[in-house]
Amino acid sequence: MKILVTGVTGQLGHDCVKELEDRGIEVRGVSSRDFPLTEPDAVRRFMLSYRPDAVIHCAAYTAVDRAEEEEARCMAVNAGGTRALAESCRELGAKLLYISTDYVFPGDGEKPYEVNDEKGPQNVYGRSKLAGEQAVQELLDAYFIVRISWVFGLNGRNFIRTMLQLSETHDVLTVVDDQIGSPTYTRDLAVLLADMIQTDAYGVYHATNEGFCSWAEFAAEIFRQAGCGTSVKPVSSSAYPTKAVRPKNSRLSKRSLDEAGFLRLPRWQDAVGRYLIELDTIKKP
Ligand SMILES: NC(=O)c1ccc[n+]([C@@H]2O[C@H](COP(=O)([O-])OP(=O)(O)OC[C@H]3O[C@@H](n4cnc5c(N)ncnc54)[C@H](OP(=O)(O)O)[C@@H]3O)[C@@H](O)[C@H]2O)c1
Repeated sequence: MKILVTGVTGQLGHDCVKELEDRGIEVRGVSSRDFPLTEPDAVRRFMLSYRPDAVIHCAAYTAVDRAEEEEARCMAVNAGGTRALAESCRELGAKLLYISTDYVFPGDGEKPYEVNDEKGPQNVYGRSKLAGEQAVQELLDAYFIVRISWVFGLNGRNFIRTMLQLSETHDVLTVVDDQIGSPTYTRDLAVLLADMIQTDAYGVYHATNEGFCSWAEFAAEIFRQAGCGTSVKPVSSSAYPTKAVRPKNSRLSKRSLDEAGFLRLPRWQDAVGRYLIELDTIKKP
């Protein structure tokens, strides 16, 4: 099986390529340099020349706040680029695994979202990712849509890295406590995606590390496990207005994952621990 992974220079794409390579599967990772999603002809040319059996589509415009001012570009990458990729997959008969987000939901209430619950993205990025989902579903039968949230991985910036950096200069950090969701460690997710892409259990799934928390609880756990003395002062998100509105409820139900027989990811606290060890290892010469 020959697999193309988009977004190899990002957090998730990097770990997907590594996981597939470790399993001895033929894989090629691409970024915007060799696979510009805003250029449908270039996408098609690449696809027809490489001819993958399957694509794990991790690449996206991910700057959630900037997207509010760059709507056209965000849409071109996440909706237009995904459409172009899905068209090529259809032409080649390749399966497509599209990575999506909790931001496709409105984020109200407290119940975990089921995969088919009503959508209602609250920001440009969420609308662009939902449009990507719709293109995939319209064009293909052999697809997986996997919604994830609060991503952290070794290959890029993320909440854990920001918190650790801020802890070097702050004894107390204020962090919002009224947005609830689940962190997702790219290394754990890559194991599931590598399993999934080799099946024909097509459909829509939610996949994050297990357990729910607020950003404030997430930060407190990072500081506890990292052994730094920084404490967390929980605040409401109204104290931290951002350009893009964030959902308060990002809880995602794993029912479809369970029903298809896929294994859930480990608990998020366990993932944080392993990530901190990995970060420490790469810092040492
Ligand atoms: N980060 C989160 O918290 C989060 C939460 C929910 C869902 N997701 C989804 O998870 C996936 C992976 O996220 P991530 O955090 O790993 O992303 P990331 O680290 O921000 O990396 C984004 C990747 O997309 C590529 N890319 C951006 N614009 C492109 C373009 N025009 N053409 C081709 N490639 C382009 C980048 O390549 P270059 O380096 O060449 O620009 C990079 O490899 C995305 O689909 C994202 O929407 C992320």
